Amino acid sequence: MPNRVVVGAQWGDEGKAKIVDFLTEEADWVIRFQGGANAGHTVEVGDQKFIFHLIPAGIMHPGKQCVIGNGVVLDPAQLLHEIEEVRSKGINIDGRLWIADNAQVVLPYHKVLDQLKEKAAGKSAIGTTGRGIGPAYYDKVNRSGIRVGDLLEEASLKEKISRQVAAHNEVIQKMYGGEPLSASDIYDEYLALGRRLAPYVTDTVALVNSAVKQGKRLIFEGAQGTVLDVDHGTYPFVTSSNTVAAAACVGSGVGPTVINQVIGVVKAYTTRVGNGPFPTEITGDIGKELRRIGHEYGATTGRERRCGWFDAVLVRRAAIVNGLTHLAITKMDVMDDFDAIQVCTHYEFKSKRMDQFPSQISTLEHVQPIYETLQGWKAPTVEITRWEDLPKLAQAYLNRLAELLEVPIGLISLGPKRHQTIHLDM
Ligand code: IMP
Repeated sequence: MPNRVVVGAQWGDEGKAKIVDFLTEEADWVIRFQGGANAGHTVEVGDQKFIFHLIPAGIMHPGKQCVIGNGVVLDPAQLLHEIEEVRSKGINIDGRLWIADNAQVVLPYHKVLDQLKEKAAGKSAIGTTGRGIGPAYYDKVNRSGIRVGDLLEEASLKEKISRQVAAHNEVIQKMYGGEPLSASDIYDEYLALGRRLAPYVTDTVALVNSAVKQGKRLIFEGAQGTVLDVDHGTYPFVTSSNTVAAAACVGSGVGPTVINQVIGVVKAYTTRVGNGPFPTEITGDIGKELRRIGHEYGATTGRERRCGWFDAVLVRRAAIVNGLTHLAITKMDVMDDFDAIQVCTHYEFKSKRMDQFPSQISTLEHVQPIYETLQGWKAPTVEITRWEDLPKLAQAYLNRLAELLEVPIGLISLGPKRHQTIHLDM
């Protein structure tokens, strides 16, 4: 198996965790490289359903090694909660879960600031998950972050936390009129959290590169999606990290030559949580129907996801900025009952054809999606595991997507369970 990056090629929630879980069978290591507890990665194995926010989805496979890389912003309490939950289901994680000592820590003031900022923004709020992601990445780039390794350095931690709490309290109080936080409470809490995390904390850059040297097979697990990328997404309605495949290298400390394959996960339609433009959104009954059939509610916040038709302009952009080698098309079964299915092939802007996804939202807000209508297959597909057994019209739909995107399909997912997957040549 090549070393693979698995990324979302839409607005997140494409079903990356199911794809990572499926592919982990063939892999040795799974590495999360960006984002934080804003992600909600759902994996269903047998009768058990897990929603991971920080732990790589590969943890469900006994014996496989899992890493939370340096590009992640880590909420220690959330991670420990997840560790407990995984353990309570009988999964052993000792000696197989590793946390980068140079990953940034999400602190209480990050969450407070995330929420205060959103509240103050009123109508122009981003619609964040409120998990402190933006402020934590801000501190990283501002060189005022606290890293996982710092939690273990007791002698200097108190001073670091005091300085940061004082600085953030200034903003909380003066800019937003919020309540100040107590540095000593945060110090006590984070010192204790650090002690509990200590057995998992290590130099993951050395660890992962030594696995590469030994010829181990790696999967880099992305979070969110390409159009939530801070550079390539619908800025400012994006998350605060790079979600594209190249971030796998930076966020785990491997060179680009380690990666051989990039899999873009896309739903057979489109969804988005949070605010911002969404050209193919369906606001009427069909949108509600997609939400109902596809259970489109956020795994982290429970919010209703906005639903729409497949947008090939958007995914074409994802194909180039990620260098996609394969597509994994998920939730194909959700389309089973539609008489007709629309696919947006290009946009129109100021009466001109537009084939490229625009960088400016002022343009994206005003584009007209131009659709091609494909006939629905009106037959259940959930138990199908071979391409040949798919209804001809379902095959036609998939072939048309691959043609529009100029990327071959490697996997098709027809339900949340591992076996509900068609594995094509990849
Ligand atoms: P943040 O990442 O919490 O700052 O939120 C910024 C934007 O990214 C909001 O529109 C969120 O709804 C969206 N977002 C963050 N994480 C996810 C995810 O895992 N799936 C889908 N959308 C997400």
